[in-house]
Amino acid sequence: MKISRPILCALLGLAGLAGPFTAPAQTETRAASGAASAPAASAATAATAASAPVVAGAGTQYSEEGADTCLGCHDEDSATYAAKAIFKTRHARQGDARAPFGPGGLQCEACHGPGARHSSKGSKKALTINNFKSDSFLTVAQRNQPCLGCHQDRPRSGWHAGAHERANLACSDCHEVHVEHDPVLAKSSQPEVCYACHIQQRADFHKSSTHPVRFGLMACSDCHNAHGSTNPALLLKSTLNQTCYSCHAEKRGPFLWEHAPVAEDCTLCHSSHGSVRAALLNKSPPLLCQQCHTVTGHPALAYTGASLPGGAAGPSIFLLAGSCSNCHSQVHGSNHPAGAKLMR
Ligand code: HEC
Ligand code: HEC
Ligand code: HEC
Ligand code: HEC
Ligand code: HEC
Ligand code: HEC
Ligand code: HEC
Ligand code: HEC
Ligand code: HEC
Ligand code: HEC
Repeated sequence: MKISRPILCALLGLAGLAGPFTAPAQTETRAASGAASAPAASAATAATAASAPVVAGAGTQYSEEGADTCLGCHDEDSATYAAKAIFKTRHARQGDARAPFGPGGLQCEACHGPGARHSSKGSKKALTINNFKSDSFLTVAQRNQPCLGCHQDRPRSGWHAGAHERANLACSDCHEVHVEHDPVLAKSSQPEVCYACHIQQRADFHKSSTHPVRFGLMACSDCHNAHGSTNPALLLKSTLNQTCYSCHAEKRGPFLWEHAPVAEDCTLCHSSHGSVRAALLNKSPPLLCQQCHTVTGHPALAYTGASLPGGAAGPSIFLLAGSCSNCHSQVHGSNHPAGAKLMR
């Protein structure tokens, strides 16, 4: 018979056999100073008192000697060794009081949570500590909590409004913490992290006309806030055009003669990721323009195949070569007094 935890706790409590997972207000047993500057007891107690959510499997007590306890088993020879590289990262800055390894920090347990139970001899090693991975016994929200505890600052203030949070992504789906250089933070290696899930975008960025992401000159995060935003498509700026203007400022205008679709939405003509046509265009002119424009203003030519070379109506000057933009070159808007038809 499977006894539920509360009942088991009550029984053990009555028998005076309270196990490590029963009492949230146990006294802090961590030594005040360990070989590798163990965290100050006060900070540890404060964290315990604030009582991190008591989760199935994990204990509530911190280990005796912080990182030294953990490294006792997770050392270079151990099969589970994963820790070393973290000492080369910002998380291990000893002078930074905000960092896990800073003065008073909880070290490994700042992220992995109280680890006395996991560390104790004879305890189950799997399922007793937050491993931040999808096979964890914790929910995604519980796994993310330690990270958000320190990182719910401005860049992630929209985390809870974003598509990634809704899709149940964990911080560790994009971030690697136990490496010297987290790939998602570098322009050149970031796209691969995203492509693991966004395969359509992988294809788009390998087309002939793209933003120079493939060459490591730009990254997804130049346009998107992967942490979530209240803007459409997790964009950095509040509208699509604002995002484009942040680099293509000359397209913002103001223009004496605006071209309505440009001010409205760049993606009426351009794809933001990649296209097989020049200049990231969605369609090639004249078709691009003819989606909206018919024969207005021009000799009443039917802009169809009939007007192409070899067609019934004979070749039309309006459709050849560079097509519409041969004459209407200022397609993004014109400041010329006589530029109303976007020709100069
Ligand atoms: C007595 C030795 C020992 C100590 C001390 C110890 N660990 Fe472990 N730990 C292990 C072993 C063995 C495993 C592998 C479990 C497995 O793969 O089944 C493990 C696994 C883990 C995992 C992965 C768990 C999982 O479910 O995949 C994490 C994370 C971890 N340890 C962190 C820590 C931290 C943080 C500390 C210090 C608070 C610590 N360990 C102290 C022996 C130890
Ligand atoms: C900043 C938060 C953070 C700190 C501090 C931290 N870890 Fe981790 N640890 C993680 C995350 C996230 C993972 C999941 C895998 C990854 O990102 O590399 C992980 C994974 C692990 C694993 C499992 C590796 C595997 O492949 O199964 C072990 C063991 C581990 N950490 C031990 C430690 C030890 C020991 C320390 C202290 C020296 C420590 N961690 C400090 C965040 C942290
Ligand atoms: C105890 C607080 C604390 C916890 C817990 C914590 N971090 Fe950090 N983290 C920091 C500090 C402090 C920095 C350095 C910030 C700076 O230098 O501006 C940092 C930096 C980072 C950076 C930037 C690294 C760089 O090289 O620029 C990333 C990414 C990061 N943390 C992710 C995580 C993730 C993911 C987790 C959870 C697994 C986590 N952090 C848990 C405090 C923490
Ligand atoms: C979908 C991928 C993705 C997820 C999920 C993700 N991040 Fe990030 N993170 C990034 C990218 C990309 C960057 C670098 C560019 C930037 O700052 O936007 C970054 C940068 C960071 C940084 C360093 C720069 C800064 O903004 O301070 C921290 C800290 C960080 N992330 C924490 C977190 C935490 C905490 C979580 C979980 C709540 C998380 N991230 C989830 C992709 C992700
Ligand atoms: C673990 C898988 C995974 C990774 C890695 C990942 N994403 Fe996503 N992303 C998703 C899922 C799932 C959605 C939601 C899809 C949906 O709603 O159709 C999403 C949605 C998005 C959206 C669309 C949001 C919207 O409102 O339509 C953008 C933009 C995005 N991700 C960018 C990124 C970027 C940039 C990275 C890399 C820094 C990244 N993603 C990494 C899984 C991932
Ligand atoms: C030049 C800016 C820019 C860059 C760089 C960029 N995106 Fe986007 N992305 C956008 C815009 C704008 C949209 C929304 C409108 C659209 O569909 O074009 C979008 C939409 C998305 C969507 C939602 C689905 C969709 O197509 O509408 C996903 C997912 C996405 N981007 C992922 C990525 C990934 C992954 C990268 C990096 C490999 C990336 N983006 C780089 C501007 C950009
Ligand atoms: C972070 C800066 C940045 C942002 C934001 C940005 N671009 Fe670009 N854009 C570039 C760079 C860099 C190039 C490449 C210029 C080159 O190759 O000489 C480029 C090139 C282009 C080109 C010409 C491509 C070609 O093959 O000639 C178009 C069209 C374009 N961007 C449209 C957009 C649109 C639409 C948006 C908004 C969704 C946008 N850009 C947002 C930086 C940006
Ligand atoms: C009505 C269709 C249309 C709209 C809307 C549009 N463009 Fe273009 N864009 C074009 C055409 C056509 C070209 C190619 C011009 C050529 O052949 O020289 C082009 C070329 C470009 C180029 C590369 C050449 C150059 O002029 O620098 C950039 C960058 C660009 N557009 C950015 C934008 C941005 C940013 C927006 C939104 C503010 C936008 N476009 C809206 C039609 C459009
Ligand atoms: C998404 C629809 C759309 C697309 C695509 C489009 N336009 Fe326009 N265009 C408009 C609208 C709307 C106006 C404003 C009409 C008005 O003010 O009466 C306009 C105005 C114009 C004008 C000025 C007309 C006048 O009466 O002053 C010219 C010239 C023009 N467009 C050329 C082009 C060319 C060339 C292309 C292809 C590169 C193109 N347009 C693509 C919607 C579009
Ligand atoms: C050989 C040069 C040339 C080419 C090529 C050309 N146009 Fe024009 N277009 C003109 C001239 C000149 C006017 C101005 C007529 C006027 O002022 O009455 C004009 C006017 C227009 C207008 C404004 C209509 C109005 O009522 O004033 C639109 C819209 C337009 N063109 C769209 C296009 C489209 C779409 C294409 C491509 C299929 C195209 N043009 C190709 C020369 C050209």
